[in-house]
Amino acid sequence: MRLTLHDLRRLAGERKLATLTCYDASFAALLDAAEIDLILVGDSLGMVIQGHDSTLPVTLDDVAYHTRAVVRGSRRAWIVADLPFGSYQQSPQQALHGAVQLMQAGAQMVKLEGGVEMAPTIAFLVERGIPVCGHIGLTPQHVNAFGGYRVQGRGDAAAGVLDAARAVADAGAAMLVIEAVPEPLARAIAALGRKSPDGMLTIGIGASVACDGQVLVLHDMLGIGVGRRPRFVKNFLDGQESIAAALRHYVEEVRAARFPGAAQVYAETP
Ligand code: KIV
Repeated sequence: MRLTLHDLRRLAGERKLATLTCYDASFAALLDAAEIDLILVGDSLGMVIQGHDSTLPVTLDDVAYHTRAVVRGSRRAWIVADLPFGSYQQSPQQALHGAVQLMQAGAQMVKLEGGVEMAPTIAFLVERGIPVCGHIGLTPQHVNAFGGYRVQGRGDAAAGVLDAARAVADAGAAMLVIEAVPEPLARAIAALGRKSPDGMLTIGIGASVACDGQVLVLHDMLGIGVGRRPRFVKNFLDGQESIAAALRHYVEEVRAARFPGAAQVYAETP
């Protein structure tokens, strides 16, 4: 039986939620065997599967294709699929069209990047029965606007990230990915999520152990990622005998709030 949003909320009251990205049926089966709670069919597939230097070339058809494969390979995990660059920013109706493709491919939830400017779109999807995960902080689809993959929300910029989190929660998102922001800011957003009316779950990546769960790109945590290796990545295959053991180790470390440690989060000042 697949986990439901209700199950995830209950589990988050007992322990942390372990999440990994995944793009194919074989790895999905391994992740399921390791009892991963959530699988994200991320647009990071553009980098780790397709070999691009950003997520921007990924299309809706690409994500739908990989979502179908992951759904076929797994039985238990809650599946989130990324709305890729250009598939949702134009209008709420465009986002609905994209979300329908991904839900029909088997996703239980769609993820989109952005804060205040995306709140009407999030509300539009939620009102139509589509669970939404927001994504704030270092949003990779904004890499050109950010001038690189940089930590967001340091100093005066913290207020903007906090506003983004509030807007996403108020719009009804059930979940929020917080990427590469200073630890105290991520901790504050996790607290805000818990206070939101339906309890918005927070999933950190380079954020804080105080989040309800953690996510990493699968290839990064197995030490086979290409290109940059951000501070928040830890190689879980190191010291393990197999990929299956590395996945189980990750799940245990996240559930017990032993990952991330101080080495994988960002301080207020560089
Ligand atoms: O696409 C992706 O893999 C993501 C994670 C980095 C959160 O959005």
